[in-house]
Amino acid sequence: MNKSLVHIADLSKIYPGAIESPEAGRGTYAIQDLNLQIEAGEFVAIVGRSGSGKTTLLNILGGLDRDYEGQVFIADQNLAKMDDVELSKMRNQTIGFVFQAFHLLPQLTVFENVLLPSRFSDYSDTEIFQQRAQIALARTGLLHRASSLPTSLSAGERQRVAIARAILNRPPILLCDEPTGNLDAETGQLVLDLFMELCENDGTTLIIATHEQRVSKAATRKVVLEAGRLVDDGGKA
Ligand SMILES: Nc1ncnc2c1ncn2[C@@H]1O[C@H](COP(=O)(O)OP(=O)(O)OP(=O)(O)O)[C@@H](O)[C@H]1O
Ligand SMILES: [Mg+2]
Repeated sequence: MNKSLVHIADLSKIYPGAIESPEAGRGTYAIQDLNLQIEAGEFVAIVGRSGSGKTTLLNILGGLDRDYEGQVFIADQNLAKMDDVELSKMRNQTIGFVFQAFHLLPQLTVFENVLLPSRFSDYSDTEIFQQRAQIALARTGLLHRASSLPTSLSAGERQRVAIARAILNRPPILLCDEPTGNLDAETGQLVLDLFMELCENDGTTLIIATHEQRVSKAATRKVVLEAGRLVDDGGKA
């Protein structure tokens, strides 16, 4: 097989219980008959109003939600056919996640947070990971805060730590759910610049769900969801 890096065919998703809801009907699909292919190195913005299915789609792509119909291939691998070990490995090596709420562990330092993905890696050479964590923090401009606790950082700094953590294993794909949603315009721009640098310099494929025009304008492709359906895949935002 020689598919796109991300290949989604006839994807549908209904959350358990949704079908029994009083308003059962079209609206019960969180995702419906979605087809999408993304090539390596693209920067794709997923946009659409609240409830249109953006987070659902990212969760499926990231292997966090395996309860769907249709087929999803990441780097030629069918997610539904992977066992738990293969899936964990794929999540660890191929995909980095960045969330709106950062999801840093408050009891760990910035450096320890960035190192977290190394715990689940095949390599046991901690020195390599220590170096990588330093490099990742230097890239996100936060090396000087390595021994701080996340609670002492601003929102923008926390998000940059989360990005450093997401890129520790140098995944080819970054899945980001409203990554600038909790940031003011200026810090949001810093984070966006960082994403663009990762895409342009490292060839990282970015798939970012966003409500922000600034982010979707920076993307090379804008995919619009409406009630779980892909209604526009119109290229440049
Ligand atoms: N855990 C869940 N259980 C039941 N229904 C859910 C669940 N999560 C999401 N939904 C429903 O699925 C649909 C898509 O939700 P989703 O969170 O993917 O939207 P979204 O585009 O990410 O919205 P937002 O912009 O507000 O983040 C919505 O109708 C939502 O109510
Ligand atoms: Mg969402």
